[in-house]
Amino acid sequence: MMSEHVKLHDKSFQIYLEESVIQERVKELAQTINKDYKGKTPIILCILNGSFIFTADLVRHFDFPLTVEFVRYSSYEGTSSTGKITKMLGMKSDIAGQDVIIVEDIVDTGFTLFNALEELQKKSPNSIQITSLLVKPEALKYDVPCAYVGFEIPNDFVVGYGLDYDEHGRDLPAIYKLKE
Ligand code: XMP
Ligand code: MG
Repeated sequence: MMSEHVKLHDKSFQIYLEESVIQERVKELAQTINKDYKGKTPIILCILNGSFIFTADLVRHFDFPLTVEFVRYSSYEGTSSTGKITKMLGMKSDIAGQDVIIVEDIVDTGFTLFNALEELQKKSPNSIQITSLLVKPEALKYDVPCAYVGFEIPNDFVVGYGLDYDEHGRDLPAIYKLKE
């Protein structure tokens, strides 16, 4: 039996999406993606760290040939007052002419993916689509077209299934939200 509550560092979390609910939805998403990518060999772009479990589960349901790339973002303060600038690290493939599926754990403001898309488009891929397990529609500030979304969730902080609170909780098979 899955626990209803978890404590990570100083904070308490309560169950939000059960393991079986997540697994069922991931399978459904994969079936939709299977139809769209029939006959193609896309590059699956896993955005570390948060997406490692979602990517691992998703690719095992795919029935087309694929390659997987793992990238991460380094955030740093820009020289101008525009705030944070992020740069993608670890990309090895030449994506020119390729079909790319970005796999993200959660879209919050959309800042991360907005920047990712801009950077990737410059490399002239044939196509780019995004799949995100979670989206927080109320927090969205950037126009990020997400073709495949697992769950739309309220603007609560969540952990588990790859997502962390200060690097803890990534291993939880279910998703938990911060208790008020
Ligand atoms: P943006 O605003 O760029 O944010 O869309 C996306 C990144 O922010 C992190 N994030 C979270 N991480 N629980 C987490 O563990 C959350 O509720 C949450 N909301 C945003 C995450 O790293 C994501 O890639
Ligand atoms: Mg993340």
